[in-house]
Amino acid sequence: MNLYHLLPGDLKASLNKIEEFLRVKPLYFDFEAGEFVWLNTREIPFREVYVRSRDYRRVARAIVEMEIRGAPAIGVAAAYGLALAALEASSRPSEFMEVVSEARKLLASTRPTAFNLFWALDRVYGAIYRFYESRGVDAAVGAALAEATRIYVEDVESNIAIGREGAKLIEDGDTILTHCNTGSLATAGFGTALGVIRYAWREGKRIMVITTETRPVLQGARLNVWELKKEGIPFKLIVDSAAGLVLERGMADKVIVGADRIVSTGHTANKIGTYMVALAASRAGKPFYVAAPSSTFQPGSKPEDIVIEERSPEEVLGVLSEKGFVRITMEGVEAYNPSFDVTPPDLITAFITERGIIEKPFESNIPRVLGWE
Ligand code: MRU
Repeated sequence: MNLYHLLPGDLKASLNKIEEFLRVKPLYFDFEAGEFVWLNTREIPFREVYVRSRDYRRVARAIVEMEIRGAPAIGVAAAYGLALAALEASSRPSEFMEVVSEARKLLASTRPTAFNLFWALDRVYGAIYRFYESRGVDAAVGAALAEATRIYVEDVESNIAIGREGAKLIEDGDTILTHCNTGSLATAGFGTALGVIRYAWREGKRIMVITTETRPVLQGARLNVWELKKEGIPFKLIVDSAAGLVLERGMADKVIVGADRIVSTGHTANKIGTYMVALAASRAGKPFYVAAPSSTFQPGSKPEDIVIEERSPEEVLGVLSEKGFVRITMEGVEAYNPSFDVTPPDLITAFITERGIIEKPFESNIPRVLGWE
């Protein structure tokens, strides 16, 4: 059952074009097998394990358990998850929309902070609904697969554009501090903040990266290290709490991070610890940039709309090692594990998006640059 024929010609062409650009394919749809495929990031850097599934429930579990993580990657995975649900539901045409709606609900419940998740589900659900109403089940399945693929392609294209825009802010010889993983492993490919670093490096700028380890799940110590080594970019790993000293002593020239959700005021939810890095950068007088695609910006929203995910205390009580979580403290200890924090706009120098750099005042410039009405 090769599903490739369901894609329109222009989408096939864009898909081929971005494939040439990707050295690591963290997520993709295998049209021949009819399966969604992902690199299990929990196993990185120890093992490169690809997982494949036709089951949207398995995709949902991969998001919950952070086999797939990073806001844009979560969005793409959910989009293909909903397309898989449509494929599955096509064998029961009388219940088609019920099955699709159930799947949408399950996928939307996986992680609450990443705005890309809801944005992507709305897009694929919208396409399914429109085609189902006008042309029936088979057309709706084709529309779901095409829309998910469009989201995938757009994500890679956006990342390359973010890289190009952001690289203009990077000087030859810069040392850049980053927090959490925002690279290929957090997106459909190439990356956002790490994409900017990658782009500048490929342009020939001699740069150096300082990555935090990013407790508790160690996206820096496990994933950034793996990506930076593959790309050949020189880097140093620091504990999260060294960021203040590094910035104060002038050992980093600027900070670039990604985002899970940016609201209309510019308040930015990102990996826990981002706010502290932003405070330290501001105190040290260093620029603090947020790189994100327009799909991470929530139109017409306010800071109160940001839901902060609370994850299992086990992640704090242990450390994610080659053998899974290894306990680092006594039994019976209580832990609190907020996964994200919110950096207020006054601490952000500018946003780097695929539509260009957004400077202050954010409240008027975000809608203008992103073309919101
Ligand atoms: O909990 P995670 O690993 O999904 O958190 C990821 C981040 O906070 C990233 O910085 C953000 O999603 C941007 S990824 C391009």
